[in-house]
Amino acid sequence: MSEGWINVADAERLAAEKLDPGPLGYFAGGAGDEVTLRDNLVAWRRWRLRPRVLSTDVSAVTTATELLGAPLSMPILVAPVAYQRLAHPEGEVGMAGAAAAAATAMCLSTLATARPSEVAASAPPGRRWFQLYCFEDEAITTALMDEAVDSGFEAIVVTVDLPRGGNRERDARTGFKLPDGLHIPSVRAAIGDDRELLVEETFTLMNPALGWSDIEALAARSSVPVLVKGLLTAEDAVLAVEHGVAGVIVSNHGGRQLDCVEATADVLVEIVDAVDGRAAVLVDGGIRRGVDVAIALALGADAVLVGRPALWGLAAGGEAGARRVLELLQAELELGLALCGCASPADLSRDHVRRAPATSVYSDQ
Ligand code: GLV
Repeated sequence: MSEGWINVADAERLAAEKLDPGPLGYFAGGAGDEVTLRDNLVAWRRWRLRPRVLSTDVSAVTTATELLGAPLSMPILVAPVAYQRLAHPEGEVGMAGAAAAAATAMCLSTLATARPSEVAASAPPGRRWFQLYCFEDEAITTALMDEAVDSGFEAIVVTVDLPRGGNRERDARTGFKLPDGLHIPSVRAAIGDDRELLVEETFTLMNPALGWSDIEALAARSSVPVLVKGLLTAEDAVLAVEHGVAGVIVSNHGGRQLDCVEATADVLVEIVDAVDGRAAVLVDGGIRRGVDVAIALALGADAVLVGRPALWGLAAGGEAGARRVLELLQAELELGLALCGCASPADLSRDHVRRAPATSVYSDQ
């Protein structure tokens, strides 16, 4: 099974063979014309690495890093992805097992098919974060957050780019609905049962009036660090820092919310510069290779998150498949570091990266 894969693209092909058209369209799709979905991938290719030779002994390279004061095997985390039991029966518990085996952190989605306490009880010990959507019903939001923290989740990631669901046309074409009986504990808490639902119906349960004062209140109330996910501008990054967050996640929701926004690889620098070391900066969107991770770190990110790559691994081979994807990315990053002349992620700097000449950027790269 997974032994035959040698990269993320292989896992994606296998997953596409296994998934039914509805779930496949849901996981793979973006908003509108999917301009941003495609651009997220290509944008990493608009940068080139500048390796250094001979100055650093790279006989012992490590991908290990520290994030929010705790160690990780690599600066690659598993991004929150909803409804993982649609991809594989092992679902979020399998994904948590894969992340734990790879000694990195997983961020569990509010729209998970397993509650935080269930993941904590069923998966081996590991570093876990919880992604929070703020429900109209504040009691649900608070209960979710408390359950996650009580279950040992180490950070809360508030997704802020979804005041409404994006225009997901693949879901409209396949008529995709969350199946009757797909248990989504947070949604059940909000509507009282597990009936068949359109994805966009679940998004109408969230609070569209959320503001910076809510983030500040949440950060003040939380006993664990609070990050905001879904920023694309320096202006918002400054506001996030001013309102007390421990970190920002540069993200356009995998191209699934507002189409035609900039690719995350294109806005990372302005956000790193605006944050200026006052909070952690993470980035997601379009990362498929270890060299993409190296570029993100060289531009100033503290870590990256991968959503679809880990999900394709899960869909193709359950926990073992997701673990394989994480290991492949780690091995690619380790090789990339060595060939850049870096002994660890911390050695990467802006000197290691430059904009690619426009003539060398092809859309199929
Ligand atoms: C959920 O967060 C989604 O993007 O579908």
